[in-house]
Amino acid sequence: MPSSDPDRSTGRKIMVVVGTRPEAIKLAPVILELKKRPAFKTFVVATAQHREMLDQVLEIFRIKPDADLDLMTPNQTLFDVTGRAVKAFEAVLNEVRPDCVLVQGDTTTAFVGALAAFYHKAAVGHVEAGLRTGNKYFPFPEEVNRKMVTAIADYHFAPTESNRRNLLAEGVPDAAITVTGNTVIDALLMTVEPDFSPKGFTLPRHQGLILVTAHRRENFGEPLEAVLHAVRDLAGLYPHHLFVYPVHMNRNVQKPANAILSKIDNVMLLPPLDYRTFSNLMAMSTIVLTDSGGIQEEAPSLGKPVLVLRNETERPEAVEAGTVMLVGPDRERIVREVRRLLDDRDAYDRMARAVNPYGDGKASVRIADFLEKRMEQGLNA
Ligand code: UD1
Ligand code: UDP
Repeated sequence: MPSSDPDRSTGRKIMVVVGTRPEAIKLAPVILELKKRPAFKTFVVATAQHREMLDQVLEIFRIKPDADLDLMTPNQTLFDVTGRAVKAFEAVLNEVRPDCVLVQGDTTTAFVGALAAFYHKAAVGHVEAGLRTGNKYFPFPEEVNRKMVTAIADYHFAPTESNRRNLLAEGVPDAAITVTGNTVIDALLMTVEPDFSPKGFTLPRHQGLILVTAHRRENFGEPLEAVLHAVRDLAGLYPHHLFVYPVHMNRNVQKPANAILSKIDNVMLLPPLDYRTFSNLMAMSTIVLTDSGGIQEEAPSLGKPVLVLRNETERPEAVEAGTVMLVGPDRERIVREVRRLLDDRDAYDRMARAVNPYGDGKASVRIADFLEKRMEQGLNA
């Protein structure tokens, strides 16, 4: 339940909802920006759809939620977390009575947060609006989650022009869309630092560092196993390279990752890393292999080639810029493309260019400016 009384402030009440690791990373800069401004009383609700992985991020950014719904259960299904979240929001909305609710991205937390805010008749702002693959099962369930949030939202904060066009094509009014850049770049710029050395583990000497992450629901089972076998193949082919893989806590990832990749000298399986450590490791890496959304946005701005372990992406900008390549969860293709990058200097240099299609680090300021203006005009204006 709320630990502070937002009624004592004169500012408009903005409820910011975070549930999983990426939402916390991408909303932390927004929360910090809103909290600086007297126009707002900012109230942070953690659904805790993720527990440890959420807390890790909140700690790095020194954000203490005003309410924590503590929803996560081990191996939760979509039905579990969706059902529990709807009911839990009712109480906190009745207590806080926000003028506006901000949700981020395409998780269950974002979808249910938007739905509950609508039931409460609060204005809804969607951070990272307008990303689409056009395929409702890839990524699953995120593509449909974000479309449902679009249907509900009053303010759409689109990271890129192409995201804005997607929204216009679905009939969202132009005046309700602001192109802001992605707030993940704000977060990245707050955490990457020169001469970083990780705490809690030591990186052995290596000729190159390949950073790996994988967690997508639609890859569970055979596709994920194909990815893990590709990493194993590569570790054998490049014994002087280091393969660092912080493994997502989902049991469907932990089990095969440990079965296929443990006890290999040059593969480091780690628990999820705090954001500061992870972003600096990304900055030190040679190549990134990932099915993550956020990492597809961060690594290009650090000049790191990214091979995406998916067949489709809602983030075409860096693919078009040539620093991200879709390789799918395809064992042979992953091995082939990593070999090409490691063995052909020109091919590597062509991909390893810093490009910044996702923002300049000021997305949070633009979001707060927009909201401040709207508040002056009266919400929903
Ligand atoms: C969720 C999001 C996905 C996002 C991902 C980021 C949905 C439907 N999916 O997927 O869009 O890309 O987060 O990582 O919203 N677990 C822990 N501790 C944690 C976090 C997870 O133990 O801190 C384990 C639990 O057993 C939990 C399971 O992972 O039940 C799955 O978590 P869940 O949030 O349902 O799904 P993700 O696959 O993490
Ligand atoms: N990340 C992190 N620690 C890790 C792995 C990833 O802090 O061990 C960060 C990463 O930099 C990115 C975000 O988590 O900002 C991506 O989260 P995830 O891949 O879980 O979700 P997605 O972006 O695919 O929704």
